[in-house]
Amino acid sequence: MFFCFLYQLKAVNTEGEIYIAKAKIAIVGAGKVGSRLAAALQSLDYQLVGVASRTEPSSALLGRKYGIPWTTKPVEVCKQAEIIFITTPDRSIGDVVKQIAKAQGFKAGQYVYHACGALTTNVLEPAKNCGALTGSFHPLQTFATNETENASLTGTFFALDGDKQAVELGRKLATELGGQWLLVPAQQRAVYHAAACIVSNYLVSLVDCATHLYKQMGISDSNAISALLPLITGTLNNIVQFGTPHALTGPVSRGDVSTVTNHLAALEQCGERELQLYKSVGLYTTTLALEKKSLTASQAKELLEVLQK
Ligand SMILES: NC(=O)c1ccc[n+]([C@@H]2O[C@H](COP(=O)([O-])OP(=O)(O)OC[C@H]3O[C@@H](n4cnc5c(N)ncnc54)[C@H](OP(=O)(O)O)[C@@H]3O)[C@@H](O)[C@H]2O)c1
Repeated sequence: MFFCFLYQLKAVNTEGEIYIAKAKIAIVGAGKVGSRLAAALQSLDYQLVGVASRTEPSSALLGRKYGIPWTTKPVEVCKQAEIIFITTPDRSIGDVVKQIAKAQGFKAGQYVYHACGALTTNVLEPAKNCGALTGSFHPLQTFATNETENASLTGTFFALDGDKQAVELGRKLATELGGQWLLVPAQQRAVYHAAACIVSNYLVSLVDCATHLYKQMGISDSNAISALLPLITGTLNNIVQFGTPHALTGPVSRGDVSTVTNHLAALEQCGERELQLYKSVGLYTTTLALEKKSLTASQAKELLEVLQK
């Protein structure tokens, strides 16, 4: 089967020893995810054959790191690759794929993935029209820098979709990277990605809101983070141990309406953004506490009233 041939190619070197050559990989988009994938796959002995990016500095940085060709013209690195990861920002994936297809950079049997959580594989249609197998390979993880040290993706889930063979190869890559995989079909990708944004991006916003409030009390950002971190990790531990809604504690969970009313009065003095965030997450939290059965229906009604004022 072609797929097995691609994945691990047995060959004999000049000394007559059998070795296994892994697939040739090109990265298009030398940013946070492209750099991380390059590092993780290279550490698994995949052959990086080239990297392309929008500008020279980012492609050169990654290319020089692995001693591989780097360019600002994606087509140049795609031709010799067996697996291509398009890791540009979401908004550029379509144009980049069209551009590569127009310059005949894709060919039959190649595997072409994007790493976007929300987009379907429709955006890779020009590659498919050239005979490539297309798939989504979205790491359910957050990458804040282009760091390639400590690039392990162990434990990360990858959301897969696409052609059967592309999903199959995606599963093998995810497993080899020490991760796991989820099948997320086209019609579910937007919701899947919205949930990921809530848990990762909105957590950052929640912490930012809390540090702003502490700053108003004269506590520096770094001290605020240090003070809040044990609370954040304690909460995460409770989620792991008890799940939701049982990890929920605090005044909403206890039905302490007077405490919540005090919070709202204090936050009105601090800032509208902070107040609105408290109210909107408080409304969700009230329904969660009802699910936990830790407050009565009348306490919930009172809470919803004060939070909606
Ligand atoms: N960051 C995360 O936490 C994360 C997590 C999961 C999935 N993703 C997905 O991974 C993909 C990449 O995200 P990212 O965070 O790695 O973005 P990023 O750090 O902004 O990197 C994007 C890279 O693409 C390059 N690029 C932009 N336009 C291009 C073009 N027309 N042709 C070639 N290269 C181009 C940029 O080049 P220059 O450096 O030269 O400008 C940059 O190096 C996105 O689909 C995103 O949804 C991101």
